[in-house]
Amino acid sequence: MPNKENVVTRGASGPDGTGAAEPRDIRIRVNGSWCSFRLEPDLSASTTLSYLLREKLGFTGLKVACDEGACGACTVIEDGKAVLSCMVLAVEADGHDITTIEGLPKDDPVVEAFAEQSEPGYGTAMQCGYCTPGFVMTTRALLNANPTPTLAEVKDALSGNICRCGCYAGIAQAALRASAKIAARRSA
Ligand code: FES
Ligand code: FES
Repeated sequence: MPNKENVVTRGASGPDGTGAAEPRDIRIRVNGSWCSFRLEPDLSASTTLSYLLREKLGFTGLKVACDEGACGACTVIEDGKAVLSCMVLAVEADGHDITTIEGLPKDDPVVEAFAEQSEPGYGTAMQCGYCTPGFVMTTRALLNANPTPTLAEVKDALSGNICRCGCYAGIAQAALRASAKIAARRSA
């Protein structure tokens, strides 16, 4: 994993290479660590958050499938809410708090619930697993806001995520299982 604080501190130069452009620094908190970037040359104004996270910072847990906001594979959490990182510009994330699936603890109830719901067969939450990080992050954001969702609320919250393997029933059960884990930990 790259040293995030060292990702960017090369000198800025203008479009004509004269060094005349006013440098702009962008700081994003990713998985608890502040990362600094300089707009040109490190990023351009059109760099997406998904590109920044995957290609600059190495957080490859998030996937980029459609790259146009239609599948949910690139979902991360920004300030507690699920966002499609392929639809967010890196500059728009300046000053914000981003969590990728790598930033969730191993004992996060959502992580545990999806892992437990992964036995092969009907009811599994994952087959190829490509969609799983997106579903996990969307579920995590849902449970941040509503720790005890109904099945209908789970389905509604996850409706923007696509699973090409068709594991929707298992994914919904994993979300409910995570909710139950949260309740059990609170009452323990
Ligand atoms: S890759 Fe972002 S929504 Fe599909
Ligand atoms: S498990 Fe394969 S796309 Fe969802």
